Amino acid sequence: MHNILPIGVLVSGSGTNLQSLIDACQKKQIQAEIKVVISNKPDVLALQRAKNANIPAFVVEYPTQTDRNLIEKNITQILKNHGVTLVVLAGFMKVLGKTFLEKFPGRVINIHPSLLPVFPGMNAQKQAFEAGVKESGATVHFVDEGCDTGPIILQEKVPILKTDTLEDLRLRILEKEHIILPKAVDLLAKNKVKLINHKVHWEES
Ligand code: GAR
Repeated sequence: MHNILPIGVLVSGSGTNLQSLIDACQKKQIQAEIKVVISNKPDVLALQRAKNANIPAFVVEYPTQTDRNLIEKNITQILKNHGVTLVVLAGFMKVLGKTFLEKFPGRVINIHPSLLPVFPGMNAQKQAFEAGVKESGATVHFVDEGCDTGPIILQEKVPILKTDTLEDLRLRILEKEHIILPKAVDLLAKNKVKLINHKVHWEES
């Protein structure tokens, strides 16, 4: 039996991906426990979801005049204080720098609503919709210093239908996000996947 992986979840918005992790932990579908949630925005639904699940939650804002390293040090401190060894970015809309990433080497993952490396950044679903591609999807990847870059762990495709609205596509992708994010956390908890020298390594099974 493996140990339960202590995770910290960073959010910025509605927190449906956070909810998928809360549910999977509560149902013991994954070998992880959410120790703390941090939002860079106050008053977001994600914070309420954490509160409802009795998970400690903190707001660390990014005021324009404040040094990013200082903000990242605060976030690091909160995560370390809660014993976190895997950081999950679940709709966290800030890019984390070296100061932060060096404290959690190979232990930060992100969910993104496209088949990376295409359509990184903001409004990935709209980018795919407007490009007229016939499929898109969701990606979980290890985080590096870029924006939605870094070695890929899991991807799921979805079709884009001629009759789709942007909202149809957003929801279809979100459904896949809610599957692959808990799955990736569980793979990491069971040491089935690791980042070694900037590359994803899979345990032979
Ligand atoms: C999700 O679609 C997530 O993939 C996306 O933000 C949304 C957050 O939703 N993240 C990014 O675009 C990161 N570049 P949620 O708050 O309901 O989980």
